[in-house]
Order: sequence, then structure tokens, then C-alpha cells
Amino acid sequence: MDIRFAEFSLPQSGAVVVGVWEDRALTGPARRLDEATQGAVARAVAAAPRFHGKKNELVPVIGPPGLPVSRIVLVGLGKPKAVDARLLEDLGGTLAAHLNSAGESEATFAVDLGDGAPVKPAEAAARLAYGAALRSYRFDKYRTKQKPEQKPSLSSITVSAASPGEAKQAYQALGAAAEAVAFTRDLVSEPANELYPESMAERASALAGPDLPGLTVEVLDENRLSELGMGALLGVAQGSVRPPRVVVMQYRGVAADVAPLAFIGKGVTFDTGGISIKPAGGMWDMKWDMAGAGVVIGLMRLLAARRARVNAVGLVGLVENMPSGAAQRPGDIVRSMSGQTIEVLNTDAEGRLVLADVLWYCQDRFKPTAMIDLATLTGAVIVALGHENAGLFANNDELAERLVAAGKAVGEPVWRLPLAESYDRAIDSDAADVKNIAGDRAAGSIIGAQFVQRFVNNVPWAHLDIAGVAWSKKDAPTVPKGATAFGVRLLDRFVADYYESD
Ligand code: BES
Ligand code: MN
Ligand code: ZN
Repeated sequence: MDIRFAEFSLPQSGAVVVGVWEDRALTGPARRLDEATQGAVARAVAAAPRFHGKKNELVPVIGPPGLPVSRIVLVGLGKPKAVDARLLEDLGGTLAAHLNSAGESEATFAVDLGDGAPVKPAEAAARLAYGAALRSYRFDKYRTKQKPEQKPSLSSITVSAASPGEAKQAYQALGAAAEAVAFTRDLVSEPANELYPESMAERASALAGPDLPGLTVEVLDENRLSELGMGALLGVAQGSVRPPRVVVMQYRGVAADVAPLAFIGKGVTFDTGGISIKPAGGMWDMKWDMAGAGVVIGLMRLLAARRARVNAVGLVGLVENMPSGAAQRPGDIVRSMSGQTIEVLNTDAEGRLVLADVLWYCQDRFKPTAMIDLATLTGAVIVALGHENAGLFANNDELAERLVAAGKAVGEPVWRLPLAESYDRAIDSDAADVKNIAGDRAAGSIIGAQFVQRFVNNVPWAHLDIAGVAWSKKDAPTVPKGATAFGVRLLDRFVADYYESD
């Protein structure tokens, strides 16, 4: 979709969107259109009994008189003081969905906020565009028989702004974010026959190049992983004909001697459960089990694209969890890179085994200032928090607070759950140093986090269990159903607000 910024002038084609405040007061552009259409706008507002101008309310005026546009969309803005960046993003997304389903191909957004709103005009224009771009994401790669009415129609949006140059400037980082989110959604949406450890590693490698200066990508193959002693990760991978990979992405945005922030992603490209096999119904969802890794790769791309003034590393552990004659068995004991032995009582609790080695390697090699891992780790986090919040676990309060604040700011909320020694006891093993499940279903997500924590030293660390939020079964204003890329915007904001030097 083509996005442009321009000064407002009466459009002569396509759809045009104008704002109406709560209490039905027309904004400047709405009045201009009202004049140009012999009062059609005011008549529509008066004739729509359920339209009050509250946020996201929408009234289309199709084929208005006096102006050759296809439709005028009146959109509620709510109260001027309550308008913020998030509201505008949602509005942009909701409008894009409306225009797409209406079959419009071009649109002008003239949502003038005037002086009363707390968001500056250029920023407001950029946020509207950003929301529209985020919502317009589609994964249509494998659909060969779509009818025209099933395809998105909207191909260009012109957003009105008093100073288009400033709006364009404000959109730069946001456009990069929308692209990174789409990149992650693409990765997460791919089926497991197409996206497996090697092919996913290749997609990450392809990011390194002149377009993203400061970004380097290294791929560790099976031999290297054995040399490093990553027995926990390799144990998961051994049942699959697809060899594992660990991808190490480094982005340097400040002096080389500044310790990096580290992001680690679970990348199980398909999780059958292994010998502790999952039931058939719903197993297809396990192609998303690499969402954590997809988010980390998209985040690294974004930090590089917007030239973030920070050093960051992104590591992803890529494996396929399959049952086979070569697969690991319940009861097997593996030796992790940390030296700790692990009794694998359930081969379906595999994500934590992958994280154990990648986290250990990360802190050992990079001495990061903080480590944040993302993983679709437990079904139990969905029982606890549903699809509204990701689970957050941390060994550091400041880090946790920052993640909560960043999540709130971008609309990717995270809710902190406890860690404690009393939970940790449940994973002491009779035969090895630790076992990978507790043995009952109590506090499943906490148990998973406790296991991961056993492989974290004194570095500030947080774990985001994104099992409930990595994909969505229903459309939301800026997130069409499917892969959400939850975490890309959150962590980008987290970096921007707390770690970038000016
Ligand atoms: N990938 C799953 C977790 C998951 C479940 C993600 C549902 C998204 C939706 C993970 O590897 C897993 O299988 N976890 C087990 C852990 C259990 C064996 C302790 C689970 O949640 O059932
Ligand atoms: Mn599993
Ligand atoms: Zn899994």
C-alpha cells in the first residue's frame, strides 16, 4: 500500500475520511466537505441516530452530491483531550479495514484534530498511516483462487497534514516498524514444511547487507552446537530430519565496548510434542511455535532499520520437535551447555530445553546488560491470562516495570506473574540436577519460567510467555487475525524509552 502525506485540498476521487468530535461537532475538513456537498455531511450526522462522534464510530456517506468522490466516511474521534497516539493508530486500522471491505482503492484521510488535542498534527497524521499499514497486513502467498472481492482493494492512502514534510519525517520510524511487524508476521505464518530451522536461519541471514548497516548475522550449525555442548537443544532436535540452527544477530548502534541488550527467541518450527505427542486436534497451531524467534528477528531488523542508538544481540534457537526412532524418550537425561543435567520427563516441554542452552550461551558470550526471552512456552499461560496479556516473569523489578510500561504504551500488555523458590523445588529431579516438568498441572507457566531461570546467572532477565498472544483468531484494529508479531512493538518501545543514548 502506498502512503503519502499532503496538505488538505478537496479530493476529486476515491474515498475521503473526516473526523467528527463527540457531541457531533464537525472538524474543519468535515465542514469543508459539508459545504462542497450541499450539506450532505451535516444531514448524515443528524440522520444517524446511533452516531455520537465517539471514538471508532463510523458513518459512510456514499455518492455525496456536488463532489465526485465515491464516499465520505465520518469517523468519531471522541473527546479532544482523550486523543492519543494509540487511538489514532486504532482509527487508521479500523478505517483501512472499512475501506478494504467497501472495495475502495484510494482514500484521503483528513482527520484534522485542530489545536485541542494533545497529539501534534504531524505525529497524528503519521499514527493514522501507521495504523492503516499495520491493519493492511495479509498473508495471501498460498492462495491462488481468490475472487476479486476477497482481495484487499485499498492501494493508496493520502493523509492530510498541514506540514506534509514533518508528517513524512514522523512516519519514517513508524513505517520501518510496520515493515518489521509484517516481516515477523510472514515468518510466523509460514507452514512448517516451508519454514524449518535451516530456511528460517536463511531468512534471518538475508537481512544482513547494505540496507541494514550495523547488523551482522551468524548461523551456528549442528556441529558447532555439539562443540558448544548444547545437549538440551540438541536432544529436542534429534528426532527430526531437519537439523537445528542457532542464529546470532548483532546490531551495533553505539561504541563497541558498550554491553548489549539481549533478546532470545524460542524457535520450534513445529512442535508435535515429540514422543509425548500432542493430540491431533489443533496440532496445526504448533507451526506458530517459533513466534518468539520470529519476533526477535523482526525486532533486530527494526532496530537496524531505524538506526537505534543501542547495541543489541538477538539469538534464536531453531529446532523441530518430532517423534521418530531417533527422538529423545521420556526419562532421558541430557547435559546442557551450563553443565547442569536435565531429566526430560515430557518431550513436549521442549521450549524450555531450547531456551536453557541459548540463554546460557548468550550470557556467557555477550555479557549483556539484560536478557529478555520470548517463547510460546506454555498452554497454562492461556488459562491464566487468556489472549489479552502475555505472561511476564523477571528476576529484576526495574526491568519488569519497564516492560510493563512499554507494553501498555504500544497496546501489547504484559502481566507479571511470580517466581519463587517454593515453586522451584517442584523441578528438582531424583535422577538429575533438574527435571523439565513438575509432575502436576499446578502453576504451569511459573514452573516453565522457573526452569528457564535455572540457566540464568546474575544478569537481569525477563521471560515473556507469549503462547496466548502470538496469534489471534479475531481481527483487532491494528492486528488482523493470524500472526500478531506481539513483542516487536513492545520491545522496540522498551529500547527507545530506556536504553537509547541521545
Ligand atoms: N508450544 C507449547 C505451548 C503452547 C501450547 C503454545 C498451546 C501455544 C498454544 C509447549 O511446547 C508445550 O507443549 N508446553 C506444554 C508443557 C507441559 C508439557 C508441561 C503445555 O503447555 O502443555
Ligand atoms: Mn511442546
Ligand atoms: Zn512448544
